[in-house]
Amino acid sequence: MHLYESNENQWGSPIAEEKQQTLISALESGEVIFLPHLSFLLQEDEKQLLSPACLKAGSKNISYSPLTHEIKGSFDHKINLLQTMMNRFASQSQHLIHNLFPHYQSTLQWGRTSYRPAEILGRETSYRKDDTRLHVDAFPSSPTQGNRILRVFSNINPFEKPRVWHLGEPFKQVAEQFLPTIKSPFPLSRNILQLLGITKSYRTLYDHYMLQIHDMMKANLDYQRNVKKRRVDFPANSTWIVMTDHVSHAALSGQYLLEQTFNLPVLGMLDESKSPLRTLEKLLNKPLI
Ligand SMILES: [Fe+2]
Repeated sequence: MHLYESNENQWGSPIAEEKQQTLISALESGEVIFLPHLSFLLQEDEKQLLSPACLKAGSKNISYSPLTHEIKGSFDHKINLLQTMMNRFASQSQHLIHNLFPHYQSTLQWGRTSYRPAEILGRETSYRKDDTRLHVDAFPSSPTQGNRILRVFSNINPFEKPRVWHLGEPFKQVAEQFLPTIKSPFPLSRNILQLLGITKSYRTLYDHYMLQIHDMMKANLDYQRNVKKRRVDFPANSTWIVMTDHVSHAALSGQYLLEQTFNLPVLGMLDESKSPLRTLEKLLNKPLI
């Protein structure tokens, strides 16, 4: 459980149908697809981006939109180089997902690309934003409305430094642990959040429960200490694919990471019964969207 290791070393090579079936079933079951031989290579002039000095003060990552090419979190004089590098990572990640998971091709949607040149270890932040604590991804201002969060990560550390994660217990166990203490939202509160622009779209009941689970996991230090977890070191020059709304994870240390987000409607899954949406609906015995 936890990791499914595969030997692909190309971003754009088709794979056998039998292998596609194995990979999609592992991914949707909550495993991390680990590709130790798949590296994202920088061009010579892009190596100057390997510095936390690329980050604007107050930003913990640089964000890129593959649709508009807009860059956030860096300086004007770096923008062209960042656009070139991040656009290439976005497009290679898309090729990779299409090749490994062709089932998703017709429904997969672009999310943002993120470049994280700062060291995680020792960063001070509020507990809600502290990704060194185990959590499933859910974001206060960006409701997914049930869509899956599918992410491709590449460790591009030039000093052979691994990206160190913890992987926690399966989603159903996480949900069973925290759901009983979660209260229903106040009437109309989610409409007000949308009206005030605090959420980018309507926070569905699903988003309410996911956000509560995310916050309660991070706030509960006994849980963080005692829950069964596994440490995984993702080496420099490796790549991994995870549905981060489903897999309990924490990023403990590491520097220089690229990450591409895709959104996937549950209807696009091979088996939507494995989604957090359907799992929570089953446990709560009510529709959440
Ligand atoms: Fe996360």
